[in-house]
Amino acid sequence: MDYNQYLQAVEQLNLYAYHYYVLDDPLTTDEVYDRLYHEVLQYEQNNQDKIAQNSPTQRVGDSVSEGFFKAPHLTRMWSLEDIFDAEGLEKWLAKTYKLDSNITFYCEPKFDGASLNLIYQNGELTQGITRGDGTIGELITQNVKTIRSIPLRIAHTDTLEIRGEVVIFKEEFERINQERLKNGEALFANPRNAAAGSLRQLDSSITAARNLVFLPYGVGENSLPQKLLSQKMEYIYSLGFKKPPLHATCQGFEEIESIYEKMKEDRDSYAMMLDGMVIKVNEIAAQIDMGYTVKVPRFSVAYKFPAVEKITTIKDILLQVGRSGAVTPVALVEPTDIDGVVVERATLHNFDEIERKDIRLGDRVIILRSGDVIPKIIKVLEHERDGEQHPYMRPTSCPVCGSELLDEGALLKCQNLECNARVVNSIIYFASKPCLNIDGLGEKIVEALYQAGLVHTVIDLFSLTKEQLLRLEGFKEKKAQNLLESLEKAKGCDYWRFINSLGIEHIGEVASKTLSETFGAGFVDANKEQLLGCDGIGEEMAESVLEFVRVNKETIAKLESILEPKEPLMREEAKENPFKAKTVVLTGTMSESRGAIKELLESLGAKVSGSVSKKTNFLIYGEDAGSKYDKAMGLGVVCLQESEMRKMIEELA
Ligand code: IVH
Repeated sequence: MDYNQYLQAVEQLNLYAYHYYVLDDPLTTDEVYDRLYHEVLQYEQNNQDKIAQNSPTQRVGDSVSEGFFKAPHLTRMWSLEDIFDAEGLEKWLAKTYKLDSNITFYCEPKFDGASLNLIYQNGELTQGITRGDGTIGELITQNVKTIRSIPLRIAHTDTLEIRGEVVIFKEEFERINQERLKNGEALFANPRNAAAGSLRQLDSSITAARNLVFLPYGVGENSLPQKLLSQKMEYIYSLGFKKPPLHATCQGFEEIESIYEKMKEDRDSYAMMLDGMVIKVNEIAAQIDMGYTVKVPRFSVAYKFPAVEKITTIKDILLQVGRSGAVTPVALVEPTDIDGVVVERATLHNFDEIERKDIRLGDRVIILRSGDVIPKIIKVLEHERDGEQHPYMRPTSCPVCGSELLDEGALLKCQNLECNARVVNSIIYFASKPCLNIDGLGEKIVEALYQAGLVHTVIDLFSLTKEQLLRLEGFKEKKAQNLLESLEKAKGCDYWRFINSLGIEHIGEVASKTLSETFGAGFVDANKEQLLGCDGIGEEMAESVLEFVRVNKETIAKLESILEPKEPLMREEAKENPFKAKTVVLTGTMSESRGAIKELLESLGAKVSGSVSKKTNFLIYGEDAGSKYDKAMGLGVVCLQESEMRKMIEELA
């Protein structure tokens, strides 16, 4: 690649990244991106003096050993006055209309993260500064550059400060905490803390791994000509920044209220945490006239959502025994209304977490509810202890079957395979959505079937009769019939569902799909090397599959014969031939459709690709072959006429 091609590749990568990280609308596959990225990286390694500032490789930086330098904002970063209800809004509007009655409003979400100021000079991102005290913050440019939704270069040459919030999406937050839990690290209390903590990492590769997202909400120093804030924001989005999920211009109390209600209603469905809606006067001239109090702008206010963090008391700690025997502690708390939902339980994750947070029975705690995940305890209010609180003692025996627990530190395990809880939970899991998805076989019914002695293993489910069901409490003709039909419907399920329903430790939906696609029913015969060869299957997972198959081979076979799960279509391994494992490109008009020829080559183990590159092994051409042919010839790719290809195939037989 020459310098021009290199610059083009950088532009192309940035375009891909913009579509992926900002628009959520990828232009290509990860594979294509990675390949180009790699080429760019290689060029840069050979031409270290020619590296472009805006190359995506420049996002991964060094670590600062001594902490961060301070840097001033070009203009002050303000905070906002809060209001909490319609009455507050009415008062704020009255006050604001008094200053200027001829105004409209711009509403957008109040993102719950860490605020950040970006300074662009001559179109380059030169500084990223935390809010700090509003005047001076910490210079974290290197970390900021790892955030993919922040452009390193923008098409705007005047000095421009862009302000916004750095957030962690809720799903990413759960992922990070799961990982921390696994590694025995302290958990982040909420996405906001996780975002702030990740931004201030001394090692920017840690920041990079956290998948932070930047959402702009305004400008500081700027010479933008637009007269309306809404126009300025549109301009900022057009420079390559991410748009918030909902934003609107409006007029008056009623309209503001209805946007607020909508945002509040939908808040759980947004990827990021919102803690309110920000209302801003839309006319820039009016904003300037209104000015600021000592702390906040007069032209803007934060209309907060009901809190999702509440204080309550821990009444007790319950123990749940899962299908794998893992015993997990759950806090029973004083029932508390959080944003319309009465919360009575909060997850405690594991026993190490109880000790690390020093959670005691009777403690006052802060709990957080976000989305549909189980509320969690984020802080113990130690200063509120009055001597009535007592530490929790780890159990030594299973709360369900009484057998001795295996203490693995963070986890306690019931090792009794026949423990009622283990059996019942594994049947519930078997019937659950990501497994066989059997309608009408929820927790209560499984429990009843088990108690009545009708079902001891999942295999028993398939010999249930209507007479048996009708003898159970609450079962009438219709309900019994429905359950039997749902069980029947599970037959012929996708193969991955069958694998997933086995409940192999460490093997979830994604791994089940991989196993199913790679081996089909042959997964029981796969050896360790083959298992490790699959994308995403590591040592622990491979061991788990092998051990499970070793112990349960008969059960698997029996269940398979009952369910007859559909194997995904798989090609038999092609026998040796010149096209096997080769990359082939087709061009020109052939005697058969492209699809048919592609199929033929794929059956020989070839990979048929759309474009010619250095990696192409064969170009096969028909009539009127055009630029692909020229390119292939140029690259020295072997070019075969369709008839030559056919001859080679015939010779195989
Ligand atoms: S405007 C001129 N808009 O909330 C007023 N702030 O409580 C400056 N925040 O420090 C702030 N989303 O970090 C504004 N859409 C939004 C926001 C937002 C989140 C944060 C911001 C600020 C804090 C003020």
